[in-house]
Amino acid sequence: MYRSVQCLVMTYFLWYVFISQKAYQEIETRPESSVYTEMRGVGLLTDTVMDVVEYVRPSEGGDVISAILRREVTHDQIQGVCAEDISLPSAWCTSDSDCVAGEVDFDGNGQRTGLCVPYYNHPTNKTCQIKSWCPIEKYAAIREPPLVAAENFTVFIKNSIHFPKFKVLRTNILKRKRYLNRCTYNEKNLDCPNFRLGYIAEQAGVKFSELCEIGGIIGVFINWKCDFDLNPSDCKPNYSFRPMNIYKNSPDPGYDYRFAKFYSKDGNDSRTLIRAYGIRLDIIVHGEAGKFSIIPTIINMVAAISSVGICSIICDWVLLTFIDKNEVYSQKMFDEISEEKVEGTIQMTSTEQLTITTFGSTHSDLSEGVAL
Ligand SMILES: *[C@@H]1O[C@H](CO)[C@@H](O)[C@H](O)[C@H]1NC(C)=O
Ligand SMILES: *[C@@H]1O[C@H](CO)[C@@H](O)[C@H](O)[C@H]1NC(C)=O
Ligand SMILES: *[C@@H]1O[C@H](CO)[C@@H](O)[C@H](O)[C@H]1NC(C)=O
Ligand SMILES: *[C@@H]1O[C@H](CO)[C@@H](O)[C@H](O)[C@H]1NC(C)=O
Repeated sequence: MYRSVQCLVMTYFLWYVFISQKAYQEIETRPESSVYTEMRGVGLLTDTVMDVVEYVRPSEGGDVISAILRREVTHDQIQGVCAEDISLPSAWCTSDSDCVAGEVDFDGNGQRTGLCVPYYNHPTNKTCQIKSWCPIEKYAAIREPPLVAAENFTVFIKNSIHFPKFKVLRTNILKRKRYLNRCTYNEKNLDCPNFRLGYIAEQAGVKFSELCEIGGIIGVFINWKCDFDLNPSDCKPNYSFRPMNIYKNSPDPGYDYRFAKFYSKDGNDSRTLIRAYGIRLDIIVHGEAGKFSIIPTIINMVAAISSVGICSIICDWVLLTFIDKNEVYSQKMFDEISEEKVEGTIQMTSTEQLTITTFGSTHSDLSEGVAL
């Protein structure tokens, strides 16, 4: 039993700690990382051409990049006065006395003027007049069809990482440049840094049609796991995709944001307000690298060797607690100090009580003396 426990402990250290977990290596888990992204693809929206300048935000391409898949556009807004949103119950009114001038409703679109006016095309329904960008989005926004062609757009992701402890710099781009522009990433092409948006959505388990409708955030995880005891050029990243927001039962599912294009019309500042629903990619880089080092090797070897000592404790405990019914083993183990053995040795004159504790068993009443 002692040998088999010893064997188990040795196997654990040799196979799991040293071979599987590479305990002989020094580990670096926080590499310095830099991400550059670029989208490619042109699509037709009804008969307007949408290129990257149109649908990609932000334009410089960092580790967060989004593509607009559907827009709600409010044309020709100017600063002026108009009726407040009718879906806001607090804006309903029947006379001017219902509207307090200067009041600002934080769910609303502007500051009240104190007048009660007919709501655009519902002359019978009235809301408070506000000073705002007019007409308001809720009334005037035009819903555009989704940009379905975006499913075939690609995003190029360039990632460079540096392991400062080992002074190794790696990138996910292979040296063959011609190959780079033509390939797309898939199960057979794991080295290619061009990812189809449709493929990303599919891998993350999100329907592209759902992204077109309400938008969504998807995490692109780049995972580097490197062993610098081998050739550092064998160190390649592994990509995975996961949705980053919760769709089901969430009060604010999806992903959308607003921006405006400003222009001057008849000497008035005007704007086109766009509410954009789209796919946002968050590129998240994890890295871990290991290399042989003498210090962790010694520490783990000392731990392994001293752990072998635990075997005898385990065996004693099992034998004493579960197996040793007739107390044969404990009699052998705890050699009782009887009077015969004490004879002829140092006689203690004092009548003090001595207590000896061995593995929880107490031998007391040795008032006549003990030879240790
Ligand atoms: C306008 O008022 C009528 C009745 O006063 C009501 O039935 C209708 O739902 C109102 N319209 C809106 C958009 O609230
Ligand atoms: C994407 O490309 C494939 C192959 O070129 C084509 O069959 C498919 O219709 C395209 N999808 C869209 C939405 O344009
Ligand atoms: C990426 O790593 C995970 C876990 O280490 C593994 O299950 C998966 O097969 C790897 N994927 C690729 C494409 O290598
Ligand atoms: C600005 O817009 C207002 C309202 O539509 C219009 O009356 C005015 O002529 C425009 N131009 C200038 C210069 O104010």
